[in-house]
Amino acid sequence: MFSSRLAFADNTNALSRARERRRTAGLPVIDLIDTNPANAGFAWPLVQLSTLLRQDGIQRQDPDPHGLAVTRQAISDYYNARGVRVPPDRLYLSASTSEAYSWIFKLLCNPGEEVLVPEPAYPLLEVLASLEGVTLRPYQMILMNGEWVVDEKSLTVSRATRAIVCINPSNPTGAFVGVRDRTALRTFARKHGLAILCDEVFLDYPAEGFVSPGTWAGESGVALLVVSGLSKVALAPQLKVGWIAVAGPNDFAQEACRRLEHIADGFLSVNTPAQLALPDLLRRAEPLRASVRQRCAQNEATLKAWSTAAGHRTTVYPRSAGWTAMLGLPAGVAEEKVLLHALEEGVWAHPGYFYGVSPSSPCVVLSLLTSPDLFKQGLEGLDKALKRA
Ligand SMILES: Cc1ncc(COP(=O)(O)O)c(C=O)c1O
Repeated sequence: MFSSRLAFADNTNALSRARERRRTAGLPVIDLIDTNPANAGFAWPLVQLSTLLRQDGIQRQDPDPHGLAVTRQAISDYYNARGVRVPPDRLYLSASTSEAYSWIFKLLCNPGEEVLVPEPAYPLLEVLASLEGVTLRPYQMILMNGEWVVDEKSLTVSRATRAIVCINPSNPTGAFVGVRDRTALRTFARKHGLAILCDEVFLDYPAEGFVSPGTWAGESGVALLVVSGLSKVALAPQLKVGWIAVAGPNDFAQEACRRLEHIADGFLSVNTPAQLALPDLLRRAEPLRASVRQRCAQNEATLKAWSTAAGHRTTVYPRSAGWTAMLGLPAGVAEEKVLLHALEEGVWAHPGYFYGVSPSSPCVVLSLLTSPDLFKQGLEGLDKALKRA
């Protein structure tokens, strides 16, 4: 009776089952991979948020599939402030970045076709693609001179390949898509007639001392769609607003916009109060983002000090941006076993394999958003788990 799009939902693993047992038993867990900003203390004050959500205009729906003009102008200003011109008529609002992905998969791929995705990358990509009947074709990100870059040899196509996904900067590696990778992806996409989907939700979170190559939304030489949204840019995932910025050559952009208009019109997903609140949220988000960057730096410093002092031969992978840290374990250590022990100590984190990291480079992925005290407590649990492994 049911479609095979949800085949991924039948994949459980020892870790998720152990986590579920702990939850059912009502036992506490320090969640070291929680990326919900409000759980980490980064929420907009209630009074401010409720004022922004109660503006004149919330009584009506304006059924423009693009989204409200005032909202798109504010997003266009956001890009202007980052040195790139994105006209409001090249913007489409969606209910989240994830929904924007699904619209782009509908735009570019027939069921059974495929998209190239970086590996490692965040696991939701598999879910989003499966729900559209699309298959993933991984390409590898490799560490070269302390920097994650595209392994060009791993970029391959079949007759079913339609697009390349890249994440600028990525989760969990935190690597920007820099000039070298943009050139490689542009050349490959043009050669094979592919479009590029560039996810920039973490664009505004460079780590201390790292220079961001900036948004890719100003691209004119290759068919490119940038996705982003309020969940990370304004620390407001509960408001459910994402967007697509259509870039690339004019003929591609015009046709992509004409088709996206039909997709967006089929859903009209974005609620009016959140659209009206967006201009102020974008204008006022920087202090909140700055405190998130500061928290990530603080927890990363704690992690590095712990890694050196604990003596487990762990390494903290280089991070140029983003909210996550990758903690490399010594070769031969089974990450799943370590994390099952950690769960018994009341600590939850993700193994690298959830993100497609090869088991030959075992690692643990941690959220740097976690409150510093909990982060330290979580590391104590990880310490005990590593001693038992
Ligand atoms: C790289 C990346 N893109 C997109 C998303 C989802 O964003 P949204 O909440 O707007 O759907 C996430 C969520 O963690 C993410 O890590």
